[in-house]
Amino acid sequence: MKKNIVDLQGKLNALLHSYRDSFVEGAVADYIPALASVEPDFAGIAVATIDGKTVGAGDYQHAFSIQSISKIFGLVMAMNRLGDSLWQRVRMEPSGQPFNSIIQLEWEKGIPRNPVINAGALLVADVLTSHYSASKLAFLGFVRKLANNEDIRVDLDVYQSEFTHGNRNAALAYLMKSFGNIEAEIPDVLSHYFTQCSIAMSCEQLAQSLLFLANKGIDPLTKQVICSPKDAHRVNAILSTSGMYDQSGEFAFSVGLPAKSGVGGGLIAIVPNYGVICTWSPPLNSFGNSVVGMKLVEGIAEELGLSIY
Ligand code: DON
Repeated sequence: MKKNIVDLQGKLNALLHSYRDSFVEGAVADYIPALASVEPDFAGIAVATIDGKTVGAGDYQHAFSIQSISKIFGLVMAMNRLGDSLWQRVRMEPSGQPFNSIIQLEWEKGIPRNPVINAGALLVADVLTSHYSASKLAFLGFVRKLANNEDIRVDLDVYQSEFTHGNRNAALAYLMKSFGNIEAEIPDVLSHYFTQCSIAMSCEQLAQSLLFLANKGIDPLTKQVICSPKDAHRVNAILSTSGMYDQSGEFAFSVGLPAKSGVGGGLIAIVPNYGVICTWSPPLNSFGNSVVGMKLVEGIAEELGLSIY
């Protein structure tokens, strides 16, 4: 692999510039009204490496709504808390369905296909709500520790907007509860889930906070053990097969990295033993993935030869 950080800055600037014309493609998420007002032409990219360097271009220090990227943090917390019994309540298979689909959940008796579709993330939110006395604070504390930044906040406008327009997530949670796969009260589970989705972070902060997944579970900057090497492997495997929802196959085909998108327009890709790429551009395609973000990650992965396959 050609993984030289030298001139990475020039490559990121050039890539961002080359996709300027694509910024009009796709549409900003509007099913959460607070996200609909975000300027569509923000764009940033950051690459953080396990040797402690971070390089960025464009709006890489501008905080945005991390949305489904938060599912990674929740999953790691739940794995640490529950151990292998987590996998009796949620599976590790691609769903082949949109991220907020409900149809499969009834056929499969309230067991979500994986922890990064909404049903699976709500299940994880239930685990956290049930096992922490103050799960929202614990979650924020975990993210702040990983990002080494106490200023990371929840965007309360986004939180309110999600709660007001959260009927589909509520339906997923109630359906799972009807099968006995949710322990806590549904409003508490939803409140936890919407809180974690509403956290605002920049590309730089997200890339740095996920470095442990590129480094076998150890935060390379603080040397803290965040999860076991086995669990880091498992999270990366789930991100490879399901992180881009029903576009995960195409992403593996064209890029070849574990990745996760969010409807705020963020996208992270883990490069094992190297670092983390994070991009932000709000307009989404029909799968809920950032149009420009996918092009940027594909471009930098190709230029640096980063595919894991
Ligand atoms: O629950 C939702 O629908 C949003 N809070 C998160 C969805 C999301 O980010 C999907 N990612 N592309």
